[in-house]
Amino acid sequence: MKLLQVVTTFMLFAKIVFLEQSDQQEQLAEKWGFKASDIRQLSKHEFFMPGLVDTHIHAPQYLFTGTRVDLPLLQWLTTYTFPTEAKYQDSGFAEETYTRVVRRTLKNGTTTACYFATIHTDTSLLLAEIIDKFGQRAFVGKVCMDMNDSVPQYKEITADSVQETERFVKELLEKKYPRVQPVITPRFGPSCTEDLLCALGDLAQARDLHVQSHISETEEEVKLVENMFPAYKTYTDLYDKNKLLTSKTVMAHACYLSEEELKLFSLRGAAISHCPNSNFSLRSGVLNVRKVLEHNVKLGLGTDVAGGYSASMLDAIRKAIMASNSLQINKVNETGLTLEEAFQLATLGGSQALGLDDVIGNFEVGKEFDALLINTKASDSPFDLFSADNFEDILQKFLYLGDDRNISEVYVAGKQVVPFSSSV
Ligand code: GUN
Ligand code: FE
Repeated sequence: MKLLQVVTTFMLFAKIVFLEQSDQQEQLAEKWGFKASDIRQLSKHEFFMPGLVDTHIHAPQYLFTGTRVDLPLLQWLTTYTFPTEAKYQDSGFAEETYTRVVRRTLKNGTTTACYFATIHTDTSLLLAEIIDKFGQRAFVGKVCMDMNDSVPQYKEITADSVQETERFVKELLEKKYPRVQPVITPRFGPSCTEDLLCALGDLAQARDLHVQSHISETEEEVKLVENMFPAYKTYTDLYDKNKLLTSKTVMAHACYLSEEELKLFSLRGAAISHCPNSNFSLRSGVLNVRKVLEHNVKLGLGTDVAGGYSASMLDAIRKAIMASNSLQINKVNETGLTLEEAFQLATLGGSQALGLDDVIGNFEVGKEFDALLINTKASDSPFDLFSADNFEDILQKFLYLGDDRNISEVYVAGKQVVPFSSSV
């Protein structure tokens, strides 16, 4: 993080071409052919930081974000979530929520998001179109689920789910959006038959596609999976044997994985999305981040809107610290997560979890410029600075107390996407 303080000059197109001290300006101008007037000089209270990566968010659930977190997961799904998601067959209805969720996350600095949509192919494609129009970087998944006894109107026939996923992938790839990709999305163990999981794993393998799902979010869910799939040793084994646990997989939550399961994640190069707001709000569990990192498992942060009540990745950073603090209070861990580590999980960690770390995640030369311009003295800033504050203090105040009022500009691949252009 210190680096941000000393770097005052760098040049960008879509990609970062150098990162040097500002006293090198003359030589750099000569080498790269720019003029002094091409340089954007930041003031003392401004800095650039890498864009935030939300590794797990449900776009349709944005409709009720900030409400209805009063039931445990399985009841929350059947009472609120499935009936709401069923409405996304309607494209006018979908367009409003999907436009709002993309605007809200971008304004809050999410330059990359890994979205769940719903079971509806056409409105899932509409979500991808809206994301592309706003210029966000994203994965989009058409949700697959062929098991749902409690809300029977919100489930698919197995063969249709597979066929529609193939159509979703084909039509999305044909659009040739530069930064929006499809992701195979079985909802989670309890919503899928073995046949569906198997077919989706085959499809992911055949087309070399990314995969996302949920795993071991609550103890009740883990027991349900054990009862539903007794032939599999563990929940992780269920995904693994069906070719859904790969180096392109990101699984949300993972609060209750055993040592053996974590080892399998590490062996396969599969990633975990830690969604602490959701884990606290639905009282699901607390992920032991330290243990995950010790097992060398790729790890990012997610908002898990609307199980998590905030769409902001700054909130995810803060809640990740609190989750870690709670484990220290309960003497589960000796060392907690530092603010620097949480910041890294929200940026570089997320890029690793989504297999994008050669493209984004930090300001290395050669990576694309996904960045936030932070103004710690914005006129309506929610925190105060004092003359004794050094850069580290200012950065910490922003991470703990800042919000979108401090995020004055957002860039994805060098293109300014916030403030929004008049064409979107
Ligand atoms: N498990 C299966 N579906 C969901 C969902 O929509 N949200 C959360 N938090 N967990 C899930
Ligand atoms: Fe989720």
